[in-house]
Amino acid sequence: MYLKEAISLPVDNPYLYQMIPKTWCFLFTLFVFYSTLVYIYSNPETQKTKVPKDVYAGMNIWQQKNCHTCHQLYGLGGYMGPDLTNMASDKTKGPAYMKVFIQYGTNKMPNFHLTETEVDQVIAFLKWVDKSGKTRVSPQSVHWTGTYIIN
Ligand code: HEC
Repeated sequence: MYLKEAISLPVDNPYLYQMIPKTWCFLFTLFVFYSTLVYIYSNPETQKTKVPKDVYAGMNIWQQKNCHTCHQLYGLGGYMGPDLTNMASDKTKGPAYMKVFIQYGTNKMPNFHLTETEVDQVIAFLKWVDKSGKTRVSPQSVHWTGTYIIN
């Protein structure tokens, strides 16, 4: 009753006020249903089961050791080291080559003193990333000034 007086709807339809609670009930049910779906699908526990365990562990190491401050994935990240997106499938490099760098570092890349298992997990993560897309620009597409040539 108060609601009716408080909101003066432009349409003078008596059924409109009766419809409001039903609409609210419907919207509320929809909201609860949608929120539950969002909760289930955004739950990190369910996310974990979608990717293999070692890949997930490798991703955590990648984040904890801040590999992205020097390396790029999909072209994003630091530029001190090379892009690692497609290194796993690179015939001139590949997992064994990567393993040496990750395990021992170089004079430019730090040695993170990772265990054998951790190194394998990082490589599993990088192999998984490799399957998801290509980012390396071919040398022919780079102008001598360093700009990418996009046709
Ligand atoms: C301080 C910057 C820095 C960080 C942090 C870093 N790297 Fe590197 N990384 C480099 C540099 C620079 C190179 C090139 C090595 C060289 O030429 O000496 C390299 C090389 C590599 C290579 C070999 C690629 C190639 O073709 O030379 C791999 C694989 C690699 N890094 C993985 C990792 C991983 C995994 C992490 C995180 C655990 C990491 N890096 C963290 C700087 C870094």
